[in-house]
Amino acid sequence: MSLRDLPKLELHLHLEGAAPPSLIRGMAKEKSVDISRVFCEDGSYDFRDFVHFLSVYEAATSVLKSPEDYARLMTAVLEESASHGVIYTEFFVSPDFCGGSDVTAWREYLHAMEEAATRAEAQLGIASRGIVTCIRHFGPDKAKPTALCAAETAGGWITGFGMGGDESVGHQGDYAYSFDMAREAGLRLTTHAGEWGGPTSVREALDDLKVERLGHGVQVIQDLALVDRLIEEDIVLEVCPGSNIVLGVYPKWDRHPIQALRERGVKVTVSTDDPPFFHTTMTREYEQLARVFGWRASDFHEISQTALDAAFCDADTKARLA
Ligand code: ADE
Ligand code: ZN
Repeated sequence: MSLRDLPKLELHLHLEGAAPPSLIRGMAKEKSVDISRVFCEDGSYDFRDFVHFLSVYEAATSVLKSPEDYARLMTAVLEESASHGVIYTEFFVSPDFCGGSDVTAWREYLHAMEEAATRAEAQLGIASRGIVTCIRHFGPDKAKPTALCAAETAGGWITGFGMGGDESVGHQGDYAYSFDMAREAGLRLTTHAGEWGGPTSVREALDDLKVERLGHGVQVIQDLALVDRLIEEDIVLEVCPGSNIVLGVYPKWDRHPIQALRERGVKVTVSTDDPPFFHTTMTREYEQLARVFGWRASDFHEISQTALDAAFCDADTKARLA
């Protein structure tokens, strides 16, 4: 079986970050929005570093203006994922971009996304769930209405709460109120930590937000005592190697710590983060892991099992995916 056809589970995918450039360009044209600064001459997304990436991401997202736009986006992304053998995806979805974290507006966007996801599951066999995500550089006060959106819509397709954005802004603990609200609503928790903020950010995520998964988490390798804590506490990493290489967290694939973390006993999974931004797909991530670290079918099977165990969906869904 080719790597493309291997069944895959992806736990870390930003919905807007997965938008095909052609879809964003088409929507910008339909709405006469000028976002030419978002693209390179070859039509791909154009950014020079992480902070610029976040700004280009938000500019591209600004053309998504209605629930129908989000339904089109969801359909396009799930079709692309399914074509790479993905059978289950967890999306980071952001009420901040969907009606400004107003609960009534959010319900309409969510309804449109869920309908598209249900259709894709019936037609393509790809299951999905949503993780409501606050955006760190928007600040703790903006995260509270986002957490309320999450709490008010918890229980169905929305199964988690998380945080993305610029990890250098403030502290994980500044967002504890929002994470507590989400936990009390029954949501599972993850946050971006240890992508840029090193072991300190990871420690804060565990102590102050009490998350069970970490987005990226890879910089924990700088503190082996903390690595051992991740193992003891069964914390799972949502590793996105291709993203880390393009954004410059690591200079080259063979310097990426995914293999070292795994060999020490950390539970790792593999995702694409924002695939068109990073010129990647789940197939490409698998191909690179096979090329650089010699991963074979048994290694890919192990990370799929880890992802299934750590997924934020219910036991019945897991039984169907197994
Ligand atoms: N939002 C989208 N991609 C992200 C990343 N790699 N880190 C933090 N926030 C993000
Ligand atoms: Zn991410």
